[in-house]
Amino acid sequence: MDARHFVTLNDFTPAELARLVARGGELKRLHAEGQPWRPLVGKTLAMVFQLSSTRTRVAFEAGMHQLGGHAIFLNPADSQLGRGEPVADTARVLAGMVDAVMIRALQHDVVTGFAAVSSIPVINGMTARFHPCQLLADMQTFAELRGPIQGRVVAFIGDGYNMCHSYINAARQFGFRLRIATPPTHRPDADVLAAADCARLVETPAEAVENADLVVTDVWSSLGQDDEAQARKRAFAGYQVTPTLLDGAKPEALFMHCLPAHRGEEVSADLFDDPRSVVFTEAGNRLHSQKALLEFLLGAEP
Ligand code: CP
Repeated sequence: MDARHFVTLNDFTPAELARLVARGGELKRLHAEGQPWRPLVGKTLAMVFQLSSTRTRVAFEAGMHQLGGHAIFLNPADSQLGRGEPVADTARVLAGMVDAVMIRALQHDVVTGFAAVSSIPVINGMTARFHPCQLLADMQTFAELRGPIQGRVVAFIGDGYNMCHSYINAARQFGFRLRIATPPTHRPDADVLAAADCARLVETPAEAVENADLVVTDVWSSLGQDDEAQARKRAFAGYQVTPTLLDGAKPEALFMHCLPAHRGEEVSADLFDDPRSVVFTEAGNRLHSQKALLEFLLGAEP
């Protein structure tokens, strides 16, 4: 059978995604109870990072260890990928040595190209287009704290970039309504938006958050955009998420941010102290949701 890949949320069915979210919760409970669960003994994950990471790397590395397997960290400086070895050659070599590959790359086609020729599962660890692993953690966090997200209202404020794109995919796959408030110059890609009837652009952050169940933002300058930082600060003025903005959402609304954050830019300095903010629970759930993903892709579900 051909390997399954996780390049976007659309690679899995809604039922598979729901199962992964539930399984992430089960793995979190097992971990908290100190119950060992090591179905990946003898398995190896190669992690190719062309961009820096804290959460994604640690979650995959710790996750493989906890599941009984092993993870190998590769960055361009330490591998022949950085000296021009073709992605297809690398994919064939890795497939002969490891059981799955995770790739973080700015160019989305690096990951799709890898997956197209890989006989082992390929996981998108974030590209300029999508960040599906983060959405698994976000959906697990909402389910854990508020129950099913199906039929709920989610507000995305800020840059119509990879996190926004993945929220658009998630709206369709998990069945929630998504309102997106971005500056006109930083809207999500039209093809991504067009694929989800349940996601729509709105004029202002206040309109987006009205009676929302979940409010989400991301940094104004993502990895690879540091030289645009000043122009972006001007473009995103008025798009900061604050406790006052959250007051327009439902009283029980949650706030999420994939981190790292820039306090004083996309979030006010006090937002993470607000009880509606669950950003550190969300970050911690990267571990459990990625363990569920590894289990699934490596055929190790109980
Ligand atoms: N949210 C996220 O992907 O964090 P890292 O960049 O630290 O992996």
